[in-house]
Amino acid sequence: MTNKIVFSGIQPTGEMHIGNYFGAVHNWVCLQNSGQYQTIYCVVNLHAMTLPYAAETLKKNTEQMFVDLLAAGLDPDKSIVFVQSMVPEHTELAWVFACVCSYGDLTRQTQFKEKSEQLEGKQDAFISAGLFTYPVLQAADILLYHAANVPVGQDQKQHLELSRDIAQRFNTQFGEYFPLPEVMFTETPKLFALNDPTKKMSKSLGPKSYVGLFEDEATVRSKVRSAVTDTGNPDEPMGAGAQNLLAILRACGRGDVAAEFEREYAQGPRRYAPLKEATADALVALTSAMRTRRAEIMADREGVKRLMKEGADKARAIATQTMREVRRLVGLPKLD
Ligand code: TRP
Repeated sequence: MTNKIVFSGIQPTGEMHIGNYFGAVHNWVCLQNSGQYQTIYCVVNLHAMTLPYAAETLKKNTEQMFVDLLAAGLDPDKSIVFVQSMVPEHTELAWVFACVCSYGDLTRQTQFKEKSEQLEGKQDAFISAGLFTYPVLQAADILLYHAANVPVGQDQKQHLELSRDIAQRFNTQFGEYFPLPEVMFTETPKLFALNDPTKKMSKSLGPKSYVGLFEDEATVRSKVRSAVTDTGNPDEPMGAGAQNLLAILRACGRGDVAAEFEREYAQGPRRYAPLKEATADALVALTSAMRTRRAEIMADREGVKRLMKEGADKARAIATQTMREVRRLVGLPKLD
């Protein structure tokens, strides 16, 4: 084990689907198991408050995401897995960073522009100041732990650049303290909606668009069976829907099976029923152990609470040290 720190966060959006899993969590598990890093993973429930939400739903989804991460392979003995709001140093450092981050830099964040524009179109549009300062909190998440590497998708590139700028500005103003975090882009398969393969798989496109990571076998099979494909006419190129099924097969580690279909399809009409069957088989094989594990974890509610507390305690042991140093550097009195 080295002390090179990897940090990443995920919003508690509700049920995890194979798009989220292959897009992020699968890679987190690999980094954890590589033995090359101290891995720290966070359910960023404070970030989920930046858009309109219901308190009950947030509470439920936060716990569920914590459980789902463990069921999907994060191991509390190998990684620090915790819920952001249980480590209050995140919000404290976010305030300090809000004061070394310029208003202009925040106005140039494309994610803020996109999300606030989406909200503006709605009735009773409310754009919170939290949505605007979202990337400042993200910088605090990362730098509290002096993370060296941050595995994220391309959409987070600008936020990561801002985290580096914030660290740099802090260091210039108050003395070298924070390492500049590096983004870690990994090749992850991009999965498309089963019911509309021109769009990215997303819960917002309805339950037929995605396969939940913990759905029962019958549901998985029926969703894959009803996936949109083309007519299989060999005179026309393969459509996005069939490509997507092949991508899911490969993501599940069955590149061998995908290659066989591709060879067959190169020679004549493309029959998709067997492809769907094979894709569903691969998904069921991948997820059935996770589904069992999730049920086991959830059966012990006290155990879940304890794991949440233990994860937060481990994170806090690091975070409090950082904040002690930060308070000293920026001219705030000690707490004790
Ligand atoms: N903004 C990230 C996302 O939407 C989530 C996130 C919050 C995060 N804090 C983070 C990712 C810190 C990496 C590091 O995906």
